[in-house]
Amino acid sequence: MINVAVLGYGTVGSGVVEVLNTNKESIAKRAGDEINIKYVLDLRDFPGDPVEKVLVHDFDTIINDDEVDIVVEAMGGTNPAYKFAKASLERGKSYCTSNKELVAKYGPELLELAKSKGKNFLFEASVGGGIPIIRPLNQSLTADEIMEITGILNGTTNYILTKMSKEGLDFDTVLKEAQDLGYAEKNPEADVEGYDACRKIAILSSLAYGEHVDYEDIYTEGITKITDADFKYAMKLGYTIKLFGKSKRVDDKFYAMVAPFMINSDNPLYSVNGVLNGILVKGNVIGDVMFYGAGAGKLPTASAVVADVVDAAKHIKTNIMTIWSSKKLVLDDIKNSRKQFFVRVEGDKAARLEEIKNVFGDVTVISLEELKDEFGFITPVMSEAEYEAASLEVSGIKTRIRIESV
Ligand code: HSE
Repeated sequence: MINVAVLGYGTVGSGVVEVLNTNKESIAKRAGDEINIKYVLDLRDFPGDPVEKVLVHDFDTIINDDEVDIVVEAMGGTNPAYKFAKASLERGKSYCTSNKELVAKYGPELLELAKSKGKNFLFEASVGGGIPIIRPLNQSLTADEIMEITGILNGTTNYILTKMSKEGLDFDTVLKEAQDLGYAEKNPEADVEGYDACRKIAILSSLAYGEHVDYEDIYTEGITKITDADFKYAMKLGYTIKLFGKSKRVDDKFYAMVAPFMINSDNPLYSVNGVLNGILVKGNVIGDVMFYGAGAGKLPTASAVVADVVDAAKHIKTNIMTIWSSKKLVLDDIKNSRKQFFVRVEGDKAARLEEIKNVFGDVTVISLEELKDEFGFITPVMSEAEYEAASLEVSGIKTRIRIESV
């Protein structure tokens, strides 16, 4: 029998208990042994819940019990998760977590510690919720050099952008609705400012390129400035707008960023709508591979955590090699990365076009009947630095959104 302790009985933790109970027999077959929930740690009490029988309030009970083989953490944040992860691994217990803050910040150190103990630090649920993406990067796509990862990695913002696109609503109205429905947090900053997606693309990029991508080095722009008018232009152009976490290898340079992008319907991520996530991985041998599914939610996330528990049980005495060195990957300045930009500018098209062309070159112009005092244009391919310099020469720029070429 393999004994498991679950830290945190919130949405994901209770989902883990539910999945382990619901699929007890098939999980035991796949793990090669029965998985027993010996403890659940939470500060709260749950009167009447069957979990009461195994509920503890003190982590010491778990860490001092040599019968606990695997610790599952679903608390979030780095404090006390980092302390719990380190202590668990040091005491020879494998650690499975859905905690992206912990993984993005301490991933290489905890992987190294797990390796030194012949145990495992597993984190499939930290990116893409229930979508298998960590294990594919670590174990399935190992014949390839990963050239590029582009992901819709945050369900909350994808829900908001999808609603804005389909119903023509403005950002604040949709955010409020998403909060009322419980999709968005009361404090939505981590989602709408792109910080959540930033940590997730840092984790994926570290695994793909083998060296530590520090999330603090990643240029991050959220969706708070996207308006319903931007979607009107996008629609006329046959585009939609998605928040991407992206990283890319160009020759020997690496770029990473989080930002809203305009994409057209040829892009496989175009149809990833609502709270769903999608991740497009480009390998130099395999080409494009797309991962799609529920990026959040109780049972999908719990499914990924329990799959890690099964893997940890199957490798109870062996470390699963994961290449994520603590050596920092130096990212190139995104100012050198090249793309087209969609720009909205104040004024009359006929009066300003020549001025715009003199600065930006051969632009494609677009205007909307209902917006008389402004128009939009698409720049030629240029570097971020060239765009920045050009934009300083043009007055009345209202918005600029990057365009993803397919
Ligand atoms: N807040 C995250 C999201 C939860 O909206 O995708 C899953 O990491």
